Amino acid sequence: MPLAGNRQPRRFEGEFVLRNIIHIGVSLLIGLSGLVACGETPPDEVLNYAQRDDCIRLNREEIPPTASDPHLGFKNVYVCNSSLEDLLLLEDQTPFVYPEGTMILKTSRREHQDYIWLIATAEKLDGRWDWVEYKRNFENEDFLSIPVSQDVCVDCHKKVIDSDLIFTSFQADEP
Ligand code: HEC
Repeated sequence: MPLAGNRQPRRFEGEFVLRNIIHIGVSLLIGLSGLVACGETPPDEVLNYAQRDDCIRLNREEIPPTASDPHLGFKNVYVCNSSLEDLLLLEDQTPFVYPEGTMILKTSRREHQDYIWLIATAEKLDGRWDWVEYKRNFENEDFLSIPVSQDVCVDCHKKVIDSDLIFTSFQADEP
């Protein structure tokens, strides 16, 4: 009979859907517990970058997303603990080396969102960059550092060894 024939597969489909829902739920729980368990909030000097006089924006226009964007979104890059004079002096050097204590800070905003979801920093300590990445999902959440090895950052940033591993170069305002 066609009716009886139909009932059997429908029950299987139901079981299949239910199993998938349980599977997704368990994966989400594991994922969330991973997120909550780790991470540090950024120091004030990082969170206050926009109010600081000694943080200078390198790019003139927001840097748009790229195909292999590791910090997906529209980005701004700042040099902190520095001055315009220092930056102009540095520009004349080849290869280019930022002084001890410089902090480069990058923010990223997802398309269609007006808040920043990522702050990545590189701070010159003992002659080497110390790399940290902070993330959040929602505007009212704290940023938390993600557990990632320095090598991950350096492996990509070393492509620009001549500019001291820093991709973004200073674009002075147009006169
Ligand atoms: C696959 C390559 C890649 C990896 C991996 C990567 N970055 Fe970047 N990063 C870039 C590129 C390209 C830029 C230039 C701006 C842009 O287009 O987003 C950049 C920009 C930056 C900047 C601003 C200074 C600059 O170079 O322009 C900081 C700070 C930064 N990244 C930190 C990090 C940290 C911290 C990590 C590791 C957790 C990391 N990056 C991993 C490619 C990478």
